[in-house]
Amino acid sequence: MKLFIDTADLNEIKEIASWGILDGVTTNPTLLAKCGRSFQEVVDEIFTLVDGPISLEVVSEKAEEMVVEAKQIISKIPQKYRKNIAIKIPMNPEGLKAVKRLCKEGVKTNVTLIFSANQALLAAKAGATFVSPFIGRLDDNGQEGMQLIEEIMEIFCNYDIPTEVIVASIRHPIHVIESARLGADIATVPPEILRKMVKHPLTDAGIKSFLKDWEKIKK
Ligand code: E4P
Repeated sequence: MKLFIDTADLNEIKEIASWGILDGVTTNPTLLAKCGRSFQEVVDEIFTLVDGPISLEVVSEKAEEMVVEAKQIISKIPQKYRKNIAIKIPMNPEGLKAVKRLCKEGVKTNVTLIFSANQALLAAKAGATFVSPFIGRLDDNGQEGMQLIEEIMEIFCNYDIPTEVIVASIRHPIHVIESARLGADIATVPPEILRKMVKHPLTDAGIKSFLKDWEKIKK
């Protein structure tokens, strides 16, 4: 399973990319707003840090405007990084129209705010490169988010649908394990969860005791 980082925090992206485990980045307007820097400034740097799909979201509401906005975003990214751009499009009829258009023009799309298997199926039919089901928000709402991933994976496998499933809105490390067990293509994980994934108290205790014992024999 590929791992994307779900943040626009450049320090976190830089540090976690240095672990050698990142396959891409997802952002959204809320994550970008937290950085306190301009959209373009942040985005320009992200492309230099991670060589993989980088999702950037449009905020237009009409299909035509989404396509124009997507092209504007792409035009401002240096040519050598453009292969990594995935335009994030909201899941609604206007979004589907935009996905269809962008797909025809060879632009990668990530359909976001997916909360049902039907929405995922429709996004795939329109030609989405990625779909992003938000499992944490479903859990928050009293629905089992992971069940949605199970349904989407079953449907996409039944028909060999090439659209990749990005498990999004991840809240804890078990979400990542469950995503991998279900065969999801990608999990997009906030930095604080990636930091939890890397740690285990028995690892820390083991390192400490090995170092202590090494002190006794090193001379
Ligand atoms: C995914 O691409 C989104 O940026 C993200 O996972 C949303 O997560 P949230 O529900 O924690 O805002």
